[in-house]
Amino acid sequence: MFGQLFLTLSMTLALQTSLPADIEKRIDALLARMTLEEKLGQMSQATSMRNPIAEEIKQQIRQGRWGSFLNAGLPEDRAEAQRIAIQESRLGIPLLFGRDVIHGYRTVFPIPLGQAAAWNPGLIERAAAIAAREASTEGVHWTFAPMLDVTRDPRWGRVAESLGEDPYLTGRLGSAMIRGFQGGSLREAGRIAACAKHFAGYGAAEAGRDYNSTVIPENQLREVYLPPFQDAVAAGVAPFMTAFNALNGVPASGTRFLLDRILRKEWGFTGVVVSDYESVLEMVQHGFAAGPAEAAQKAVTAGVDMEMVSTTYFDNLRRLVEKQNVSIASIDAAVRRILRLKYQLGLFDAPVRPAASVQTANDARGIAKELATQSLVLLKNDNGVLPLSPSVKRIAVIGPLANSPVDQMGSWVMDARPEEVETPLTSLQRKFGAGRIRYVAALRNSRDTSREQFNAAIEAAKASDVVLLLLGEEQILSGEAHSRAFLNLPGAQEELAAEIAATGTPMVTIILAGRPLTFQNVAAKSAGVLYAWHPGTMGGPALLDVLTGGVSPSGKLPISFPRAVGQIPIYYSHLNTGRPASPGELGIPLGSPVNPEGFTSKYLDVDFTPEYPFGFGLSYTTFEYSKPRASTAELTPGSSITVSAEIANTGKRAGEEVAQLYIRDLVASVARPVRELKGFSRIRLNPGEKRTVSFTLTPRDLSFYNESMELVTEPGEFQAWIAPDSASGSDVRFRFRANTNRQ
Ligand code: NOJ
Repeated sequence: MFGQLFLTLSMTLALQTSLPADIEKRIDALLARMTLEEKLGQMSQATSMRNPIAEEIKQQIRQGRWGSFLNAGLPEDRAEAQRIAIQESRLGIPLLFGRDVIHGYRTVFPIPLGQAAAWNPGLIERAAAIAAREASTEGVHWTFAPMLDVTRDPRWGRVAESLGEDPYLTGRLGSAMIRGFQGGSLREAGRIAACAKHFAGYGAAEAGRDYNSTVIPENQLREVYLPPFQDAVAAGVAPFMTAFNALNGVPASGTRFLLDRILRKEWGFTGVVVSDYESVLEMVQHGFAAGPAEAAQKAVTAGVDMEMVSTTYFDNLRRLVEKQNVSIASIDAAVRRILRLKYQLGLFDAPVRPAASVQTANDARGIAKELATQSLVLLKNDNGVLPLSPSVKRIAVIGPLANSPVDQMGSWVMDARPEEVETPLTSLQRKFGAGRIRYVAALRNSRDTSREQFNAAIEAAKASDVVLLLLGEEQILSGEAHSRAFLNLPGAQEELAAEIAATGTPMVTIILAGRPLTFQNVAAKSAGVLYAWHPGTMGGPALLDVLTGGVSPSGKLPISFPRAVGQIPIYYSHLNTGRPASPGELGIPLGSPVNPEGFTSKYLDVDFTPEYPFGFGLSYTTFEYSKPRASTAELTPGSSITVSAEIANTGKRAGEEVAQLYIRDLVASVARPVRELKGFSRIRLNPGEKRTVSFTLTPRDLSFYNESMELVTEPGEFQAWIAPDSASGSDVRFRFRANTNRQ
């Protein structure tokens, strides 16, 4: 029996290890046969094939000019291009098709920022798995997601594609996406390679303007911007993508510090690094390279294996190798990584296949609905206006976002079909019957300033028991290169809200947007406010369920909502300053200028706190948190501590709650944030039900980078909260006792 066990074990081990060894031999053999041109072809990614594929491109594929295409072709073009590469190119190396499958493919899930509001890694993983299945059916091998750029700037258009302001949350959710896309192995049917992007610091673009430079001190870089990427390496992400920005003066596609020292050496990443779109060539514009040749040299030396769209590699690397400015060894290393990815994806062993097209499946729409439902954040609910009472008979549905399929999908949806989207209006009409719903768009889109339809909207409001006002931002107001300097509701939406509120009919405002907006005036006039982000294909049914009380809202904000643009960057895990303002200093604290109490870190014209804090979200029920307990008063190296609290559903409805664990290191050699998220747990409680939630912390969870850039955990006192959001809750204290700072 033991013999049998040993045999099975050794066979398993042999299986696990024989695959990579075999791959490396096959890559060696292939590299030995490749010309330098063919190698440079593998390092080049093109964006267009035209439809049908242009003869010129077919010829280039036969010649091995391209190793990869991005966002190119229809499924049949990709299938034909792959057939040509495998059957008609000299070495038969398959092409790698990359695509921006960011929050769904045919089925659109909420924008990533909305997904983050669900705080549900398991569900996010399932959504990514569906996106992978749909994309792979149509010949896509690789998605450029997840975007792991932590951002604290809602002006930045790509905040929509982010997972919010927090490195821990971004790392947990980004890793879940990676698992969903990639599965247990890239060879599994229906899986695709993910891509950790944009490495690094892109989310800190100065003034929120896309592509802008970032200046980030190294300890902040290592504690805030890099951890989600390190988590991605641990989750086994296949490639990395560089960023457009210059970080501390060095463009991300030419930085040895990030790509070589941190990614390869410190983290041991062995996968492919692709540039962003023309970001190698753009190093010339940055003033970091004198021309395309120098850009190619700097990028390849830093560690960019594949150049996206610009052609500095193909055009210059031959000469640079001949002049010994670039070593052939570095070219071979890059090509090896690219070929390895193709092997890992099973592309060398896949038969030439005809194109297939994706069918919409119920499980996909089911997950899209569940994720959209959990992403909805209830920000206000006066007098229990929501869920809608059965006595509500006539409903006015007003606003430019009530019935706009394209807008509700959000950015990055090139493979989706608007006709498959269920809007809030269609869902409400189906449920209540068209007779009970009075619909007036009132504005043609979110930027419209015409008041032509206002009277019709006012009449509809007057004739109804409740108004559902669907405002926000249309699709094109967020996403890449779509930054805003103002965060108010655009167009005449505020005026519309004021007119509707003046009718006296209770008004529930539902905001569909790609970012946090500033909308205090509208919120003040509304009995209820629901934040819906861009909720995707199933946004309508998700909203319907929540509005009618089928499900209690359970989303929590993954990013702080400012009161005014002037507060940006605003984030919960800030340092305390030497003069922190106290909660009593809200409002406009214009005291006497000689009163020293007035000299605190605040604004004169707006409260210093966010409008809605990170982690915040209401429910139809109420949850009560006990004071947290710690399993020990003292944590020591090599041990762990458990922090627990009881959460009770004290309301009348079942609901889900996302409990959040925060810590603070009270005194350290480098001042530490007032709170840092270290765990979260989504639990479901029936009315009257109680549950203990527990989180375990190790000394590693308390660590930070000291002035010498060493990761240390310093002895001393810590606070821990288990709380419903980043701005409330009670704490427990414990100590870390150690003779040294090193863990
Ligand atoms: C530029 C974007 O920054 C990147 O995120 C995207 O994946 C590529 N373009 C490809 O579309």
